[in-house]
Amino acid sequence: MFFNSIKKFKVDDRLKHIAFIMDGNGRWAKARSLPRQVGHKYGAKAFEETVKNCHAFGIKIVTVYAFSTENWSRPENEVNAIMELLNTYIDRAKEQKDIRFVFIGDKSVLSQELRDKMIELEESTLLYDNVLNIAFNYGGRAEIISACNSLICEGVKEVNEKDISSHLYTSHCPDPDLIVRTASEYRLSNFLLWQCAYSEFYFTSVLWPDFNKKQLYKAIKSFYKRKRRFGGLIKGEE
Ligand code: IPE
Ligand code: IPE
Ligand code: MG
Repeated sequence: MFFNSIKKFKVDDRLKHIAFIMDGNGRWAKARSLPRQVGHKYGAKAFEETVKNCHAFGIKIVTVYAFSTENWSRPENEVNAIMELLNTYIDRAKEQKDIRFVFIGDKSVLSQELRDKMIELEESTLLYDNVLNIAFNYGGRAEIISACNSLICEGVKEVNEKDISSHLYTSHCPDPDLIVRTASEYRLSNFLLWQCAYSEFYFTSVLWPDFNKKQLYKAIKSFYKRKRRFGGLIKGEE
Protein backbone atom coordinates (compact mmCIF):
# COMPACT_ATOMS: atom_id res chain seq x y z
CA MET A 1 0.00 0.00 0.00
CA PHE A 2 1.57 3.30 -1.06
CA PHE A 3 0.22 6.74 -1.75
CA ASN A 4 2.80 8.34 -4.00
CA SER A 5 0.81 7.71 -7.14
CA ILE A 6 -2.88 7.18 -7.76
CA LYS A 7 -1.99 5.11 -10.84
CA LYS A 8 0.05 2.54 -8.94
CA PHE A 9 -2.01 2.59 -5.77
CA LYS A 10 -3.17 -0.73 -4.30
CA VAL A 11 -4.94 -1.39 -1.02
CA ASP A 12 -3.77 -4.04 1.44
CA ASP A 13 -5.95 -6.49 3.35
CA ARG A 14 -7.08 -3.81 5.81
CA LEU A 15 -9.51 -2.70 3.11
CA LYS A 16 -11.29 -5.75 1.79
CA HIS A 17 -14.80 -4.35 1.61
CA ILE A 18 -15.98 -0.85 0.71
CA ALA A 19 -19.61 0.26 0.60
CA PHE A 20 -21.21 3.32 -0.94
CA ILE A 21 -24.40 5.21 -0.16
CA MET A 22 -24.71 6.79 -3.58
CA ASP A 23 -26.61 9.97 -2.73
CA GLY A 24 -27.22 13.29 -4.49
CA ASN A 25 -28.43 12.29 -7.96
CA GLY A 26 -31.56 14.41 -7.62
CA ARG A 27 -29.68 17.50 -6.44
CA TRP A 28 -27.13 17.06 -9.23
CA ALA A 29 -29.96 17.12 -11.79
CA LYS A 30 -31.78 20.00 -10.09
CA ALA A 31 -28.64 22.13 -10.18
CA ARG A 32 -28.70 21.70 -13.98
CA SER A 33 -32.48 22.21 -14.31
CA LEU A 34 -32.79 18.59 -15.46
CA PRO A 35 -35.35 15.99 -14.40
CA ARG A 36 -34.30 13.76 -11.48
CA GLN A 37 -34.17 10.74 -13.79
CA VAL A 38 -31.24 12.30 -15.63
CA GLY A 39 -29.43 12.54 -12.32
CA HIS A 40 -29.93 8.80 -11.84
CA LYS A 41 -28.60 8.12 -15.34
CA TYR A 42 -25.38 10.01 -14.57
CA GLY A 43 -25.34 8.39 -11.14
CA ALA A 44 -25.36 4.99 -12.86
CA LYS A 45 -22.31 6.04 -14.91
CA ALA A 46 -20.48 7.12 -11.75
CA PHE A 47 -21.39 3.78 -10.17
CA GLU A 48 -19.93 1.75 -13.06
CA GLU A 49 -16.73 3.84 -13.02
CA THR A 50 -16.42 3.52 -9.25
CA VAL A 51 -16.74 -0.27 -9.36
CA LYS A 52 -13.95 -0.40 -11.97
CA ASN A 53 -11.79 1.95 -9.90
CA CYS A 54 -12.29 -0.07 -6.71
CA HIS A 55 -11.18 -3.22 -8.47
CA ALA A 56 -8.23 -1.39 -10.05
CA PHE A 57 -7.20 -0.39 -6.51
CA GLY A 58 -7.43 -4.02 -5.46
CA ILE A 59 -10.58 -3.85 -3.32
CA LYS A 60 -12.18 -7.27 -3.53
CA ILE A 61 -15.69 -6.52 -2.30
CA VAL A 62 -17.83 -3.53 -3.23
CA THR A 63 -21.37 -2.89 -1.99
CA VAL A 64 -23.59 -0.13 -3.35
CA TYR A 65 -26.91 1.17 -2.10
CA ALA A 66 -28.99 1.56 -5.25
CA PHE A 67 -32.62 1.48 -4.07
CA SER A 68 -33.94 1.36 -0.52
CA THR A 69 -37.16 -0.17 0.81
CA GLU A 70 -38.20 3.45 1.48
CA ASN A 71 -37.47 4.68 -2.05
CA TRP A 72 -40.83 3.29 -3.25
CA SER A 73 -42.31 6.48 -1.84
CA ARG A 74 -40.72 8.47 -4.71
CA PRO A 75 -42.89 9.52 -7.70
CA GLU A 76 -43.82 6.61 -9.96
CA ASN A 77 -41.90 7.91 -12.98
CA GLU A 78 -38.71 8.20 -10.91
CA VAL A 79 -39.10 4.66 -9.52
CA ASN A 80 -39.75 3.33 -13.04
CA ALA A 81 -36.66 5.10 -14.35
CA ILE A 82 -34.50 3.46 -11.64
CA MET A 83 -35.98 0.01 -12.45
CA GLU A 84 -35.18 0.57 -16.12
CA LEU A 85 -31.62 1.65 -15.32
CA LEU A 86 -31.08 -1.58 -13.41
CA ASN A 87 -32.58 -3.58 -16.26
CA THR A 88 -30.22 -2.11 -18.87
CA TYR A 89 -27.26 -2.30 -16.47
CA ILE A 90 -27.77 -6.07 -16.07
CA ASP A 91 -27.57 -6.47 -19.85
CA ARG A 92 -24.17 -4.76 -19.84
CA ALA A 93 -23.01 -6.54 -16.68
CA LYS A 94 -23.48 -9.93 -18.34
CA GLU A 95 -20.47 -9.13 -20.54
CA GLN A 96 -18.26 -8.59 -17.49
CA LYS A 97 -16.10 -11.63 -16.94
CA ASP A 98 -14.49 -11.07 -13.56
CA ILE A 99 -17.17 -10.00 -11.08
CA ARG A 100 -19.56 -11.98 -8.95
CA PHE A 101 -22.85 -10.06 -8.78
CA VAL A 102 -25.06 -10.41 -5.72
CA PHE A 103 -28.33 -8.52 -5.29
CA ILE A 104 -28.99 -7.88 -1.64
CA GLY A 105 -32.55 -6.99 -0.72
CA ASP A 106 -36.05 -8.30 -1.30
CA LYS A 107 -36.49 -9.33 -4.94
CA SER A 108 -39.99 -10.74 -4.39
CA VAL A 109 -41.87 -7.51 -5.15
CA LEU A 110 -39.90 -6.64 -8.30
CA SER A 111 -41.18 -7.44 -11.79
CA GLN A 112 -40.80 -11.05 -12.91
CA GLU A 113 -38.56 -9.92 -15.78
CA LEU A 114 -36.18 -8.04 -13.50
CA ARG A 115 -36.15 -10.83 -10.92
CA ASP A 116 -35.28 -13.46 -13.53
CA LYS A 117 -32.48 -11.29 -14.92
CA MET A 118 -31.05 -10.66 -11.44
CA ILE A 119 -31.04 -14.35 -10.57
CA GLU A 120 -29.51 -15.30 -13.91
CA LEU A 121 -26.69 -12.78 -13.42
CA GLU A 122 -26.05 -14.03 -9.88
CA GLU A 123 -25.94 -17.66 -10.95
CA SER A 124 -23.76 -17.12 -14.02
CA THR A 125 -21.10 -15.17 -12.08
CA LEU A 126 -21.03 -17.26 -8.91
CA LEU A 127 -17.44 -18.41 -9.30
CA TYR A 128 -15.67 -15.05 -9.67
CA ASP A 129 -13.57 -13.73 -6.78
CA ASN A 130 -14.35 -10.00 -6.92
CA VAL A 131 -17.77 -9.34 -5.46
CA LEU A 132 -20.24 -6.57 -6.27
CA ASN A 133 -23.24 -6.45 -3.93
CA ILE A 134 -26.03 -4.30 -5.29
CA ALA A 135 -28.48 -3.33 -2.55
CA PHE A 136 -31.79 -3.08 -4.35
CA ASN A 137 -35.08 -2.88 -2.51
CA TYR A 138 -32.81 -3.22 0.48
CA GLY A 139 -33.52 -2.19 4.07
CA GLY A 140 -31.31 -3.04 7.04
CA ARG A 141 -34.22 -3.60 9.41
CA ALA A 142 -36.08 -5.81 6.93
CA GLU A 143 -32.85 -7.79 6.47
CA ILE A 144 -32.46 -8.44 10.21
CA ILE A 145 -36.15 -9.42 10.52
CA SER A 146 -35.80 -11.80 7.58
CA ALA A 147 -32.70 -13.38 9.18
CA CYS A 148 -34.61 -13.86 12.46
CA ASN A 149 -37.58 -15.42 10.65
CA SER A 150 -35.28 -17.83 8.79
CA LEU A 151 -33.75 -18.87 12.11
CA ILE A 152 -37.21 -19.42 13.62
CA CYS A 153 -38.14 -21.58 10.61
CA GLU A 154 -35.00 -23.64 11.24
CA GLY A 155 -36.24 -24.23 14.77
CA VAL A 156 -33.45 -22.32 16.52
CA LYS A 157 -34.31 -21.61 20.19
CA GLU A 158 -31.58 -19.09 20.97
CA VAL A 159 -29.45 -17.00 18.58
CA ASN A 160 -25.91 -15.67 18.65
CA GLU A 161 -24.11 -13.08 16.48
CA LYS A 162 -22.82 -15.71 14.10
CA ASP A 163 -26.35 -17.04 13.51
CA ILE A 164 -27.62 -13.58 12.56
CA SER A 165 -24.59 -12.72 10.36
CA SER A 166 -24.86 -16.01 8.52
CA HIS A 167 -28.54 -15.41 7.70
CA LEU A 168 -28.14 -11.88 6.35
CA TYR A 169 -28.03 -11.11 2.61
CA THR A 170 -24.30 -10.43 3.07
CA SER A 171 -23.43 -13.82 4.60
CA HIS A 172 -20.84 -14.37 1.82
CA CYS A 173 -18.81 -11.27 2.88
CA PRO A 174 -16.89 -9.83 5.80
CA ASP A 175 -18.41 -6.62 7.23
CA PRO A 176 -17.58 -3.40 5.34
CA ASP A 177 -14.33 -1.77 6.41
CA LEU A 178 -15.31 1.59 4.97
CA ILE A 179 -18.69 3.15 4.19
CA VAL A 180 -18.70 6.23 1.95
CA ARG A 181 -21.72 8.53 1.73
CA THR A 182 -21.88 11.40 -0.74
CA ALA A 183 -23.99 14.58 -0.90
CA SER A 184 -23.45 15.94 2.64
CA GLU A 185 -25.85 13.58 4.38
CA TYR A 186 -24.65 12.13 7.67
CA ARG A 187 -26.89 9.13 8.21
CA LEU A 188 -27.24 5.47 7.26
CA SER A 189 -30.79 5.59 5.86
CA ASN A 190 -31.33 1.94 6.82
CA PHE A 191 -28.14 0.65 5.13
CA LEU A 192 -26.17 -2.32 6.53
CA LEU A 193 -27.35 -1.65 10.09
CA TRP A 194 -25.95 -4.87 11.51
CA GLN A 195 -22.80 -5.02 9.39
CA CYS A 196 -21.58 -1.47 10.12
CA ALA A 197 -20.91 -2.07 13.85
CA TYR A 198 -17.18 -1.36 13.39
CA SER A 199 -17.06 0.17 9.92
CA GLU A 200 -15.24 3.42 9.29
CA PHE A 201 -17.30 6.23 7.73
CA TYR A 202 -16.32 8.79 5.14
CA PHE A 203 -18.66 11.63 4.22
CA THR A 204 -18.21 14.04 1.35
CA SER A 205 -20.18 16.94 -0.08
CA VAL A 206 -19.55 15.67 -3.63
CA LEU A 207 -22.81 14.67 -5.30
CA TRP A 208 -22.78 11.05 -6.47
CA PRO A 209 -22.70 11.70 -10.27
CA ASP A 210 -19.50 13.72 -9.69
CA PHE A 211 -17.82 11.00 -7.61
CA ASN A 212 -14.68 9.92 -9.48
CA LYS A 213 -11.36 8.12 -9.03
CA LYS A 214 -9.77 11.09 -7.26
CA GLN A 215 -12.65 11.23 -4.78
CA LEU A 216 -12.35 7.51 -4.16
CA TYR A 217 -8.62 7.85 -3.57
CA LYS A 218 -9.29 10.64 -1.05
CA ALA A 219 -11.76 8.42 0.82
CA ILE A 220 -9.26 5.56 0.93
CA LYS A 221 -6.45 7.84 2.11
CA SER A 222 -8.70 9.02 4.92
CA PHE A 223 -9.45 5.38 5.83
CA TYR A 224 -5.75 4.58 6.17
CA LYS A 225 -5.31 7.43 8.67
CA ARG A 226 -7.87 5.85 11.01
CA LYS A 227 -6.97 3.75 14.02
CA ARG A 228 -9.36 0.84 14.26
CA ARG A 229 -9.45 -0.46 17.80
CA PHE A 230 -12.54 -2.68 17.79
CA GLY A 231 -12.96 -1.83 21.45
CA GLY A 232 -9.43 -2.92 22.32
CA LEU A 233 -6.07 -1.17 22.40
CA ILE A 234 -3.48 -0.79 19.66
CA LYS A 235 -0.07 -2.37 20.27
CA GLY A 236 2.40 0.25 21.43
CA GLU A 237 -0.38 2.62 22.56
CA GLU A 238 -1.25 0.78 25.80
C1 IPE B 1 -29.60 8.74 -4.57
O1 IPE B 1 -29.87 10.01 -5.06
C2 IPE B 1 -30.23 7.65 -5.42
C3 IPE B 1 -31.41 6.99 -4.84
C4 IPE B 1 -31.87 7.21 -3.64
C5 IPE B 1 -32.11 6.05 -5.67
P1 IPE B 1 -31.16 10.81 -4.62
O2 IPE B 1 -32.22 10.59 -5.64
O3 IPE B 1 -31.55 10.51 -3.24
O4 IPE B 1 -30.62 12.30 -4.72
P2 IPE B 1 -31.02 13.51 -3.77
O5 IPE B 1 -30.71 13.11 -2.37
O6 IPE B 1 -32.47 13.77 -3.98
O7 IPE B 1 -30.16 14.64 -4.26
C1 IPE C 1 -30.36 6.44 0.58
O1 IPE C 1 -30.57 7.68 0.01
C2 IPE C 1 -30.77 5.35 -0.37
C3 IPE C 1 -29.90 5.19 -1.54
C4 IPE C 1 -28.78 5.83 -1.77
C5 IPE C 1 -30.34 4.19 -2.49
P1 IPE C 1 -31.92 8.48 0.26
O2 IPE C 1 -31.80 9.75 -0.51
O3 IPE C 1 -33.10 7.64 -0.05
O4 IPE C 1 -31.88 8.75 1.82
P2 IPE C 1 -32.60 9.85 2.70
O5 IPE C 1 -34.07 9.82 2.36
O6 IPE C 1 -31.99 11.17 2.36
O7 IPE C 1 -32.29 9.45 4.11
MG1 MG D 1 -31.04 11.31 -1.45
